Amino acid sequence: METYTGDVAPMLELTDIAALDRPDITAQATATLEHGGIVYLPQAGFDLSEDEFAFVSDASVTLPTRAEKKSQNGRPTVIYNPATGRLERSRIGARQRPQVIALLDRYAQWSTQLVNRLFPQYSDGLIRDRTTYRPCERAATQGLHVDASYGRPTGGQSMLRVFCNINPEARVRTWRIGETFEPFASRYVATANPKTSGTLESLLYRLGITKGQRTAYDLLMEDIRGQVKKDRSYQANAPQTVFDFPAGSAWIALTDLVLHGAVSGQHSLDQTFFVPDQTMAEPECSSLRILERLSGNRLSA
Ligand SMILES: [Fe+2]
Repeated sequence: METYTGDVAPMLELTDIAALDRPDITAQATATLEHGGIVYLPQAGFDLSEDEFAFVSDASVTLPTRAEKKSQNGRPTVIYNPATGRLERSRIGARQRPQVIALLDRYAQWSTQLVNRLFPQYSDGLIRDRTTYRPCERAATQGLHVDASYGRPTGGQSMLRVFCNINPEARVRTWRIGETFEPFASRYVATANPKTSGTLESLLYRLGITKGQRTAYDLLMEDIRGQVKKDRSYQANAPQTVFDFPAGSAWIALTDLVLHGAVSGQHSLDQTFFVPDQTMAEPECSSLRILERLSGNRLSA
């Protein structure tokens, strides 16, 4: 049997919200993220107004079908694009849409301010993507994985995500947290057999199936992500811990750099940003550079 040694990703807990822009704190927070850690704010300060609280508490808003209720995989999710002010995916009825848009837009602004305070050096290069609301129950544990998106290839940019548990009944959101990217990637790069970036990729892009063409980086990430999800021994025995994020807390990670999986919870928000490797304090810590080193290939577009 394979033996697993190594550490679980580090966590930096920041309790003093007023001190988030202190230079020693921003430096520590940036280093934590870039080395595959999680920045945890137990009392984040994204508090729901009375109206938002009532809206989030109203189970009829999300109207899950019986099949969805049964699956309890946290879906369907609501996806908002703060650049257009529109919902991109939602089963929420027309009457309640303005309320959900207002909540998600407020979260997009709040998390942007938070990121600008905590990671001032990212401000120039950061690209804000979409906002996700998960109003449905998750009871099925997600396998340990790193984030890589088939439909929205990053081309090697890191995914910075700000999560917040807004459960109105003060229930925790539970995650499995595994190791950081490099030890994980070292296990699977040698056995990777990624598709080649070429004609199919341009076709998927031209047909609008993917937003942006997948690069050699995206294809290798997909491959190793697929391998780890299927590796039962890794899932059971690799370094990992379980962490409960209380209602009202927020946590931030570069989710391509840390193994994670949701276990349970309901009602969470997250805002995604893309961070190009040149924007990072230590670009050599990016998943792009690590994969280039491990594979011996140039993987950027
Ligand atoms: Fe994920």
